[in-house]
Amino acid sequence: MDRFLFFIIIIIVISCFRAAISTSTGTVQYLPGFQGSLPFHLETGYVGVDENEDIQLFYYFIQSDSNPKDDPLILWITGGPGCSSISGLLYEIGPIKFEEVHYNGSLPSFILRPSSWTKIANIIFLDIPVGTGFSYRRSGQASRSNDFLLADQAYEFIKKWLRSYPEFISNPFYVGGDSYSGKSVPVITQLVSNGNEAGSEPYINLKGYLLGNPRAFPDEDNFQIRFANGMGLISDELYKSLLHSCHGEYRSEYISSNNVACLQNLELYQQCIDGIEKPHILEPNCSAMVLPIKLPSQMQFKEQQPLSSFYCHDEVNSLTSIWANDAGVREALHIREGSVGDWERCGSNLNFTKILEDIRPYHLNLSKKGYRSLIYSGDHDMVIPHQSTEAWIKYLNYSITNQWRSWKYRGQIAGYTESYSNMMTYATVKGGGHTTPESKPEESYAMFERWISYQPL
Ligand SMILES: *[C@@H]1O[C@H](CO)[C@@H](O)[C@H](O)[C@H]1NC(C)=O
Ligand SMILES: *[C@@H]1O[C@H](CO)[C@@H](O)[C@H](O)[C@H]1NC(C)=O
Ligand SMILES: *[C@@H]1O[C@H](CO)[C@@H](O)[C@H](O)[C@H]1NC(C)=O
Ligand SMILES: *[C@@H]1O[C@H](CO)[C@@H](O)[C@H](O)[C@H]1NC(C)=O
Ligand SMILES: *[C@@H]1O[C@H](CO)[C@@H](O)[C@H](O)[C@H]1NC(C)=O
Repeated sequence: MDRFLFFIIIIIVISCFRAAISTSTGTVQYLPGFQGSLPFHLETGYVGVDENEDIQLFYYFIQSDSNPKDDPLILWITGGPGCSSISGLLYEIGPIKFEEVHYNGSLPSFILRPSSWTKIANIIFLDIPVGTGFSYRRSGQASRSNDFLLADQAYEFIKKWLRSYPEFISNPFYVGGDSYSGKSVPVITQLVSNGNEAGSEPYINLKGYLLGNPRAFPDEDNFQIRFANGMGLISDELYKSLLHSCHGEYRSEYISSNNVACLQNLELYQQCIDGIEKPHILEPNCSAMVLPIKLPSQMQFKEQQPLSSFYCHDEVNSLTSIWANDAGVREALHIREGSVGDWERCGSNLNFTKILEDIRPYHLNLSKKGYRSLIYSGDHDMVIPHQSTEAWIKYLNYSITNQWRSWKYRGQIAGYTESYSNMMTYATVKGGGHTTPESKPEESYAMFERWISYQPL
């Protein structure tokens, strides 16, 4: 009798434990906004990092459609800092995206993205640093973080994550991201490499990293003016005058207030580019339009209709906060109750200190060790223009192994590429913006697929 009772208690304890686990982590089969069960394998959950695991980092994990057992595993970090990784998932490289219709008051609906990178890769979309997306801190200081803490926590995250998903330990591992992740991805990659060398467990099968329109070095912003001239946004005369009067240094903190000519030229420049959508200069600047892209409560309800040619991506993207703040969505994603109040796409309460200025030493170190890298650049991005990326790559002084040439998609030129010693590949995506997979999805997927499978672009 006693033994029977003991047995019953054990069963009750186990089932309570399982129930507790299943409310905070696990497979997501149905997602509000998507009709039917998801045709891909999505899991979400938390990994605790830092002392006492006070920082709970939230992730979305999507398995490869092809061969999850052998396909690469990518840790993807959205930039900002502080922009939720769901931006990468929904707007760039994940298997679903919002249907492009005006908001009508109902939960926005999803369609499949044919060019999802998860067709051939397992991808973990991580909300980091703390205060980003659904990641939160259980106690202590609010959301204090910086470049190094972010990298330390990402490294701790991946080690713990792999311990709970041991079946992925032997997959080729990459770290990826775009924009501000240009500062975090190489540092995380370096930590993984250092950890491997120091014998830290588990050994991570690190192969390399990939970056789109990445932040890299302090001079970056000086290249916007060259870009503006090349794109025909300012006249040659103004460009030459700027170059002459400012000596190529256009950042306000370095310009003497005595240099009136430079300051006047910069004002003329500002007038020319005011209203340009910097992340993609051919896109409409939504803030200049009458469309209200505001909080859900302020949003105008419109008739459900396909968006006209002058629509703003931002209108569709702004639906994410409506979706992520829906109680049913949170339940489906296994979000812990009371953990995060109002979800924001890019955390505005982030207490993040930018410490790292120059990432070039990290690139040099990683290349020296033989890690592969893909650096790509949407050539219509004015935030981090391709000229600046080309400049820091040139500074590395790698020898060119494959000279600048076009690369093609479906018989058309999709961009230009050059490869260097130390396994570094650079590629532009013609017509791409700051987040290239968003503006040129098929071309970006083709580029990714070729690179990740060791083929020339
Ligand atoms: C909004 O559109 C969706 C899809 O077309 C429809 O199912 C829903 O009922 C509409 N909601 C409202 C409030 O009109
Ligand atoms: C941000 O963190 C610093 C410590 O690094 C702290 O002094 C400051 O009060 C924090 N600010 C907020 C708004 O939490
Ligand atoms: C849109 O234009 C305004 C000026 O009219 C500018 O301040 C803003 O940065 C532009 N938006 C983007 C995303 O470039
Ligand atoms: C690069 O590697 C050297 C030697 O291993 C090391 O001393 C240095 O700190 C590394 N630099 C960075 C930025 O990690
Ligand atoms: C590359 O070469 C240039 C010119 O010789 C030099 O100034 C620069 O320091 C070199 N870069 C590196 C990373 O050594």
